[in-house]
Amino acid sequence: MSMIKYSGKEPVIRIRESLEFLHEKGVIDPEIGIVLGTGLNDFADRIKDPIVLDYNEIPNMESGWVSDHRGELVYGEYLGKKIVVMAGRFHYYESHNMDKAAYPTRVMASLGIKRLILTNSAGCINESFEAGSFMLINDHINLSGDNPLIGRNIDEFGPRFPDMTFTYDPELRAELKERAATEGIKLNEGVYCMMSGPSFETPAEIRMLRTVGADAVGMSTVPEAIVASHAGIKTIGISFLSNMAAGVTGKPITGEEVSKAAAESRATFAKVLDLAITL
Ligand code: HPA
Repeated sequence: MSMIKYSGKEPVIRIRESLEFLHEKGVIDPEIGIVLGTGLNDFADRIKDPIVLDYNEIPNMESGWVSDHRGELVYGEYLGKKIVVMAGRFHYYESHNMDKAAYPTRVMASLGIKRLILTNSAGCINESFEAGSFMLINDHINLSGDNPLIGRNIDEFGPRFPDMTFTYDPELRAELKERAATEGIKLNEGVYCMMSGPSFETPAEIRMLRTVGADAVGMSTVPEAIVASHAGIKTIGISFLSNMAAGVTGKPITGEEVSKAAAESRATFAKVLDLAITL
């Protein structure tokens, strides 16, 4: 498996270069980092007077950015908190590179975030959940076949063998569920499984995933959750269940349908994120 790593520079040096640039631009001490998933990027526009930086401007983040997604870092104050939002993510399927998929999270960790909110659109495997609803991720299964921590450990971030027992912070999860219920928003809770994509799963794969305990399936989030866990950052994961997974309804799944469903749920999504930000 060949993997071309950026420019061959040490990861710590790359991150330091990104960080110095962001500090110069005024991105200082955010408390919360957010990664917005497919179809959910509009949330970034809610920040007033933001600092907006195209990924292509940020040293070491520009390489390989696929331009059919929005790719912007948006920083500012929102609901009384300093937040940094990654509007658009690097997917593993774009370049077969976990390092790249996790890079924005590493940068946010270096900026000093205390909490990370990861969002995605996912296929719904659990038939007691509904397409169009949200799922709080309580654990994940990494079936990508890869891991962003492979390679020399970055001791500045965390240990060689990080624990993954509390990857999705149990206290924050309990609190978010309670607050969502008070607001009348149903939050399912379950296990997210990452597949590499970009092909959607086959019906047989979905039956397998159901058997191994997955409630939702997607092509992201796990790389970021692993590096956040490594760095000791409290993480919340929220999946928008854009469609029933392959074979459940018998209808084919399209990328357009996923993006459209997510865009249609933007108001509820924003409410859930507001609750997650103010926990
Ligand atoms: N499978 C994988 N990823 C997805 C899906 C799906 O059904 N829907 C949205 N992202």
